[in-house]
Amino acid sequence: MAILEIVTYPDKFLSQPTQPVENIDGKIQDLIENMAETMYMEPGIGLAAIQVGINKSLLVYDVSAKDEKRSLHVLINPRIISSEGSILSEGEGCLSVPDFRADVKRSAAILVEGVDRNEKPLRIEAEGFLAVVLQHEIDHLNGILFIDRISSLKRGMYKRKIQKNLRKK
Ligand code: NI
Repeated sequence: MAILEIVTYPDKFLSQPTQPVENIDGKIQDLIENMAETMYMEPGIGLAAIQVGINKSLLVYDVSAKDEKRSLHVLINPRIISSEGSILSEGEGCLSVPDFRADVKRSAAILVEGVDRNEKPLRIEAEGFLAVVLQHEIDHLNGILFIDRISSLKRGMYKRKIQKNLRKK
């Protein structure tokens, strides 16, 4: 197992749509293990393959509370089938958008279909926090970051901060 390097904004790699996983082979299983290890180490609650430089439609997440047993979920080639309602996801953050949080408007409930790491079909009815996490991660698979969903004013503030930091290096 290995800790993977996280691709961060403004790397354009993050803004491309990903390719479907066609074969859940040993390489994909290794990738899943490494992504899980990386997510737990950071720590994060979700991680999409594109965030570790792999342009595939695959994500891992674990929304269990800190005092609960770990519960790793793997979602491959997910699609949001339907969504309803709207909630404000407060202080959303992302491992690929370091040192920044913002409120994001999300659907309150979604229905997601995909397959797990054993190619078993999954149908997930999610609401609240889980719905937010899945929307955030599935956005990654479509080349969308949460800062693409906030006001251009707020996004501009973050962009300027990043550019300042890049100049300092
Ligand atoms: Ni993210």
